[in-house]
Amino acid sequence: MKIAVAGSTGLIGSQLTALARKEGHDVVEIARQTGFDLLQPDHLEDALTGVGAVVDVTQSPTLDETEATSFFTTVASNLGRAATAAGVGRTVVLSIVGVDRSPDYGYYVAKLAQERAARAAAPGVVVLRATQFHEFAGQMLGWGTEDGVAHIIDVPLQPVATTEIVRLLLDLATGAVQGDTQLAGPRPERLVDQVRRLVARSGSDVRVEAVAAPSSMMNGSMLPGPEALRRGPDWETWLEMQG
Ligand SMILES: NC(=O)c1ccc[n+]([C@@H]2O[C@H](COP(=O)([O-])OP(=O)(O)OC[C@H]3O[C@@H](n4cnc5c(N)ncnc54)[C@H](OP(=O)(O)O)[C@@H]3O)[C@@H](O)[C@H]2O)c1
Repeated sequence: MKIAVAGSTGLIGSQLTALARKEGHDVVEIARQTGFDLLQPDHLEDALTGVGAVVDVTQSPTLDETEATSFFTTVASNLGRAATAAGVGRTVVLSIVGVDRSPDYGYYVAKLAQERAARAAAPGVVVLRATQFHEFAGQMLGWGTEDGVAHIIDVPLQPVATTEIVRLLLDLATGAVQGDTQLAGPRPERLVDQVRRLVARSGSDVRVEAVAAPSSMMNGSMLPGPEALRRGPDWETWLEMQG
């Protein structure tokens, strides 16, 4: 099957591209690095000719609500219009568990707008809402550290391995799995505890300070409901596997 991966050079997109090719699919890579700016596409419809499914794993350059909403809805509309014109059958969008439960967090408002824009413009939309990647705690440590202090939001979450996300995205693209789906890892964590364990593990002297998050998140909006699939290793096991 021919599959287009929008965001093919990213963390998820590069793994999805590799897995799809390994399993014999023909992949059309869509990213600025491969010659497609999805904010101003000019030859997208041609590139999507013969494609059976488009998977959108793009990421906004900013978490700001207005800018991220503009990015995600423009990309979803442009991709959707081109996919419809090219006769694509299915569109898979990667979103986040809890985007409908955090109206007080701008980036989640933007992701919900992305889902809606895709449903309005694209053919055969299915949405995969996943929880945070296992890499998330490390990313937050990197982004949140200044002058030896890491300011980390105090939220419960249930992270998942990106290998599981990529597996499910491909199965949704081929139709092996159907319908909107939610995915989480097997065990809840507190982000602040995860970051403290990372700091202790690395032997660094960074001090970790818990800071407030939007109240919906502190109250558990990032946690999966009973309808979510639970797959893959827990975060500690995954961390050990990274060496
Ligand atoms: N982080 C988490 O814990 C988490 C959890 C659940 C879901 N998600 C979702 O997962 C998705 C993918 O995240 P990621 O970490 O894999 O993203 P990433 O590594 O930042 O990759 C983003 C991709 O988008 C492409 N892109 C950005 N602007 C573009 C443009 N104007 N035109 C075309 N392509 C563009 C980038 O390629 P170029 O730079 O070459 O254009 C890159 O391939 C995000 O939508 C995020 O919301 C994240």
